[in-house]
Amino acid sequence: MTITRLEVAPVSTLDDGDHVIFVHGNREIVIFRVESTLHAIDRRCTHMGADLSKGIINGNILQCPIHGARFNLDTGELLKEDLLSSIIFNESPDINVYPVEVINGIMWIEVDA
Ligand code: FES
Repeated sequence: MTITRLEVAPVSTLDDGDHVIFVHGNREIVIFRVESTLHAIDRRCTHMGADLSKGIINGNILQCPIHGARFNLDTGELLKEDLLSSIIFNESPDINVYPVEVINGIMWIEVDA
C-alpha cells in the first residue's frame, strides 16, 4: 500500500464548524473543522451511503443525517450502542478516517493510493 499526501486547500478557507469536500479519483472525503481540529473521513455513510457532510456534529461525534448512526470522528468507529441498534450494516460499519496536517497554512491529507 502506498500512502500519498494530497493538497486540499488553505486552512483559512475553513471556519470553525465548516467543512470542505475533497474528491480524489472515485473517493469522496469530507474534512470538518471542529473547534480548530480537522477531521477527514469518507463522505458516504457505511450504512446506505448518506452524505455525511450533512451530518450533525457534537464534539468528536458525527451523526448520520438519514438513520442517525453515530461515528467517532477521531477513529471512524461506529459507536457501540449504534452497532447494537436496529440499523443493519452489510459490511464493516466503521468509516475511513484520514490523517490531516497543516503545513504553511495549507491542509494536506494522506490517502492510500
Ligand atoms: S445511511 Fe447513515 S445510518 Fe443509514
